[in-house]
Amino acid sequence: MKKIVINGGNKLQGKVRISGAKNAAVAILPAVILSDGVCRIENIPNIMDVNLMANILHQMGASVNRINKTTLEIDPTHITKPVANYELVRKMRASCYLLGALLGKFSQAEVALPGGCNFGVRPIDQHLKGFGVLGAEHSVVGGMIHVRAQHLTGGHVYLDVVSVGATVNIMLAAVKADGKTVIENAAKEPHIVDLANFLNSMGADVRGAGTDVIKINGVKHLNGTTYSIIPDQIEAGTYMAAAAATGGDVVLQNVISKHLESITAKLREMGVEIEEYDDCVHVRHQGRLRRCNVKTMPHPGFPTDMQPQITALLAAADGTSIVNEAVWDHRFRYIDELKRMGADISVDGKIAVVQGVERLNGAPVKATDLRAGAAMIIAALSAEGTTYIEDIEHIERGYEDIVEKLQGLGADIKVIYTEEPSVQTA
Ligand code: EPZ
Repeated sequence: MKKIVINGGNKLQGKVRISGAKNAAVAILPAVILSDGVCRIENIPNIMDVNLMANILHQMGASVNRINKTTLEIDPTHITKPVANYELVRKMRASCYLLGALLGKFSQAEVALPGGCNFGVRPIDQHLKGFGVLGAEHSVVGGMIHVRAQHLTGGHVYLDVVSVGATVNIMLAAVKADGKTVIENAAKEPHIVDLANFLNSMGADVRGAGTDVIKINGVKHLNGTTYSIIPDQIEAGTYMAAAAATGGDVVLQNVISKHLESITAKLREMGVEIEEYDDCVHVRHQGRLRRCNVKTMPHPGFPTDMQPQITALLAAADGTSIVNEAVWDHRFRYIDELKRMGADISVDGKIAVVQGVERLNGAPVKATDLRAGAAMIIAALSAEGTTYIEDIEHIERGYEDIVEKLQGLGADIKVIYTEEPSVQTA
C-alpha cells in the first residue's frame, strides 16, 4: 500500500510554482472533440484525471501526443463513434463533459452515468435540462446515458441551481448548434471563463462567461488551436493554507491573484500576511491563527473545494469557528479523520463547529477524497509528530507533484510502500 508520511513542525519556506487548473483541463480536453483540426494544450497539469481523460479520447480514436510534461497535442478528427469507454468514464466525474462535447459534434452521445463521490449524490438533471432545451432527448440503458438530437437548435436555459458541470456541458453542446443559446444563472468560476476562451480560440462565439448570463451563437466549424490553461486557484489556495498552517514564508509563482480573492480575504481575516503581485503571491504567518466563520458559495464566493483545507487550519486556530458547506450535502466526511489527530469539531448537516485546539498531533489517517486528502496534508504539516496518510491516489488525481513541491519548501514528507495488512480471518 502507498502512503504519505509527514513529520510535522517544519516551517514551509521558499518558492513553489502552481500548475495548470485541473477543473479547466478536464473541461477543455473533451472540448477538443468539437475541433476540425489539431489542438495543442499547454500548461496542462500532469495529474491522473488529465491522463485518464486523455486516455478516454485516445480510446475513442483521437491521436494524443504528449509533447512534454505540461503540453498535449490532440488530433480528434479520427473520432467517429460518439461512445466513451464505460470502465474509464466511471472513474471520473468530469467524464460527463463528454456528453456535451459528443452531442455538440455528432448530435448524439453514449457515456456512462457519472459515479457519485464521497460528498453526496452528484445529479445531472440540470445538464439534461439544458440538452433538452437544445432539442436533445435522453435515456439511460445499461448504466449508459444516451443523448441524441435530430437537430441541435439554440435555446434559452435557466439553471435551477448554479452548476459548474451543467454550465460546461451546455456550452459544449451549444457552440455548434443552430442559432443562439442563452444560459442564465450560469456558473462564473475561472475555469468556465477558461473554457469559453478556449472555445473562442477555435472560432466559437461565446460571450458573457464569468457573468451569470452566457450567450452563444452557434458556428459551423471549429478549428484547431494552441491554448494555455489558467493556473489552478485551488492548488494555489492549498499551498497558501499550508504556508499559514506551518508559520511559513512562501512565494507562489504562476498564479492569477484575482482568482484567489475570496481565499486571500479569508486567510487575511485569520491573520495571515499576503502580498499580491501580477503573477505571484507572497504568504507569511507567525504565531496562532485567528478563528473565523466560512460559508462556501459558487464563485466569487469562498470555494467549496477549499472548505476541507481551511477547516484543517481552523482546527488549531485560536477560538471557535463555524464552517457552513452550502454547496454539497455531505462534504464533512474527512472530519472523522481530523479527529484522529485531536481536532475538536462537531458536525450537524452542513454546519461544522470547530473548537480550535492548541496543536494537532500526528496519527494514521485516510484521504476520503481529493480535497480531504489535501486537508490531511495541511493538518499533518503543522501537527506534533508523525502522520501516515492512506488512499493517497485521491490526492494524486488533482495535485501535480505535491510531495516533491512540499519537499522543495522544506516539508518532512515522503511516500512509502507498505505490505497490505494481512486480513485476520475469524
Ligand atoms: C465541479 O463539480 C467541480 N468539479 C467540483 O470540484 C466542485 O466542487 C464543484 O464544481 C462546485 O464548484 C469539476 O470541475 C470537475 P456543480 P460539479 O454541478 O460540476 C447541484 C474538485 O475537488 N447540482 O457545480 O459536479 C450539486 O448537487 C471537485 O476539484 C444539481 O442539483 O458541481 C451541487 O449541490 C470536487 N443538479 C451543486 O449543484 C445538476 O444537474 C453544485 O454542483 C448539477 C449540480
